Amino acid sequence: MKIPPTAVTPEGQVTLAGELAAAAARLAAAGVASPRGDAEQLAAHVLDVSRGRLALVEVISTSAAQELRHLVERRADRVPLQHLTGLAGFRRLDIAVGPGVFIPRPETEWVVEEAIRLLRASGAVRPICVDLCAGSGAIALSLADEVRGAEVHAVELEPAALDWLRRNVGRTGLPVRVHQADVGVIGAGLPPGSPPATRAGAGPVDGVLSVLAELAGRVDLVVSNPPYLPDHERSRVEPEVGRHDPPAALWGGPDGLDGPRAVVTAAAELLRPGGLLVMEHADEHGQAVPSLLASGGPWSGSWFDIVDHPDLAGRDRFVTARWDPPGRGRPGSAGEDV
Ligand SMILES: C[S@@+](CC[C@H](N)C(=O)[O-])C[C@H]1O[C@@H](n2cnc3c(N)ncnc32)[C@H](O)[C@@H]1O
Repeated sequence: MKIPPTAVTPEGQVTLAGELAAAAARLAAAGVASPRGDAEQLAAHVLDVSRGRLALVEVISTSAAQELRHLVERRADRVPLQHLTGLAGFRRLDIAVGPGVFIPRPETEWVVEEAIRLLRASGAVRPICVDLCAGSGAIALSLADEVRGAEVHAVELEPAALDWLRRNVGRTGLPVRVHQADVGVIGAGLPPGSPPATRAGAGPVDGVLSVLAELAGRVDLVVSNPPYLPDHERSRVEPEVGRHDPPAALWGGPDGLDGPRAVVTAAAELLRPGGLLVMEHADEHGQAVPSLLASGGPWSGSWFDIVDHPDLAGRDRFVTARWDPPGRGRPGSAGEDV
């Protein structure tokens, strides 16, 4: 379906209202969830104005209308809005995104909110923070932006995502140290049954515990949004996700827990006694992930204050916990040594 012709003024200009109405109709017909909002954001991008200022624009040039119609067609083909504008808003930052990197999601903003709240409540001065599976760097950059004096490390495996991460560190100027390392998310991005050697063209990459060896046992906060979708979701995700988010960012193995398990394993080595883990998970993992921490592995009995949190839509979304390794005084208890 093509966009219907819209009103043209005697001067050869086009009314923005007509273009927006036609664009919204085209996007609605293509099954886009927020057609009017997306049409307005694309128009704001083409006209280089904020969305709020569109109300002040009556007519646009025919070349601007052409450009807008081109973008609307790509959006109707279910290319993510953020790939068309090149930016994703995340907390106080605009994060550059495009093919090869996961688009940061609004629900992750709340994961960061709680991480910052807990970090501040802990009273840590110049806290050491590690973002595992950092993607575009949205989480790490927000910590560097909002937590005074934080020493922030961002860990990512995939070369394409690392390019975006480094670009975002450069364009924001925020102090984030970028590391290429494998967190050990077994099976991420692969069709079930694929041998590890075929994964995402990554080649041999050192494990996170060797790359961050000097931080072992010293980290105040490990935060992560790992790949966590179970394989059975592959046929159910929206086209924007299935065709455009990198597979390595999405898939967490048959039960979706490969990513969370790898993050918990790494966090247990990196955190100081009393250090915090804040990790996003699939909405169906609101019990599985807290159970994993409470009793699921070699770290069994070493995590405390395990709390699962919902997102704004009320779906189970992330877990918080503190690391309490065996043989150490529990922070806040008699004999505490941190
Ligand atoms: C869901 S995305 C999250 C990205 C970013 N933290 C965010 O919230 O927008 C998961 C990220 O984990 C990365 N990843 C997958 N397997 C990994 C591994 N074994 N080691 C390190 N990073 C990995 C993916 O490349 C992807 O960038």
